Amino acid sequence: MVPALTERVRASERSSIRQMFDLAEREERTGRDFVRLEVGEPDFDTPTHIIEAATEAARAGHTHYTPNAGLLELREAISRTLSEEYGLEAEPESEITVTSGGMEALHLAMLTVADPGSEILVPTPTWPNYLTQAHLADATPVEVPLDPSEGFALDPDRVIDAMGEATAAVVLCTPSNPTGRVYDPAAIERVVEAAVANDAYVIADEVYARLTYDRPPTSIAARTDAPGHVLTVHSCSKTYAMTGWRVGWLSGPERVISEVTNIRESTTASTSSLSQHGAIAALTGPQEPIEAMREAFAERREYVVDRIEEIDGLSAPQPEGAFYTFLDVREWEGTSLAIAESLLTEYGVVCAPGGGFGAAGEGFLRVSLANDRDRIEAGFDRIERAIDEEAFGPVG
Ligand SMILES: Cc1ncc(COP(=O)(O)O)c(C=O)c1O
Repeated sequence: MVPALTERVRASERSSIRQMFDLAEREERTGRDFVRLEVGEPDFDTPTHIIEAATEAARAGHTHYTPNAGLLELREAISRTLSEEYGLEAEPESEITVTSGGMEALHLAMLTVADPGSEILVPTPTWPNYLTQAHLADATPVEVPLDPSEGFALDPDRVIDAMGEATAAVVLCTPSNPTGRVYDPAAIERVVEAAVANDAYVIADEVYARLTYDRPPTSIAARTDAPGHVLTVHSCSKTYAMTGWRVGWLSGPERVISEVTNIRESTTASTSSLSQHGAIAALTGPQEPIEAMREAFAERREYVVDRIEEIDGLSAPQPEGAFYTFLDVREWEGTSLAIAESLLTEYGVVCAPGGGFGAAGEGFLRVSLANDRDRIEAGFDRIERAIDEEAFGPVG
């Protein structure tokens, strides 16, 4: 007899983004050219001054465990960045804890505020990891579908209707992965008020906060009257092109942050010391290379919005932030997974099937802008050809 594995792992589905990634990797070995638009990480290399800071730290012997909450110098830099860029005040000593990426911040936040059997509300389409993380905390993820005819804008009534005594937290991701929507502040405030009334937390995933194109970056905790109910997740990954460095942080009220830091002692203990030194350089060093990356994303976004408008049979909610567009293929024949697979095998363009982002994402494809402008252009040429050839039935 083979010992059984836990319900926790059985409940964790393999992401369809990952499936497409694996399929593309396999097919690429045949030497064929694929336009990779499924990936969720910046295509830029980490700016040189950050790499140099980490190298220097290694040479100087900063190769030991750090405090569980992270280096104080880093927390001070985070505190200044939160204040200057997002208007969010957080004490470095007690209201910020450094984590191994935004992922660990989310995971620890859920472990800290959700008891087994409680519910975590997730407006969908959503980045699928929240659903898995809720399972890992033995909580129940509750999908709250947003309305595609409203471009997946945050509908506070739907979220509030789903709230109840069992609600431990609501996750709000703005700018959103996968839709690129930036949620309306008034809608957010209604959700925060309802969370307060239900003794629940709002977990604000703001890892894409600096990548907004039509309005300045903001932060939920900075704008609400109830910041004590908001746990904010940030990360170096997307803003500074540092996905592999694994540095993020959670900020919020001391009573939560101190417990997160406490349980961290038994998980990863501390984030890589070298990565933390890199993160200090990212936050305190020259911001021009970072702004240049944001501008590149903004240009690509412009191009993609125009291109979608030009192609008959293609539409998407306006991407206001992050680096994705969520193509509406509800009129096309086949599931989003089947469409994504055919686009890959028949046309050589790789997108992430919307069904992987919760049930509300079915009928959509996530296209990432984390690729060169000319590759994005080639990707849209291939999608256009599939439409012209009626590969998925007559559309447009
Ligand atoms: C919405 C969202 N939140 C959080 C993360 C976590 O990123 P990291 O752990 O690299 O900081 C990601 C990464 O893809 C994401 O898309």
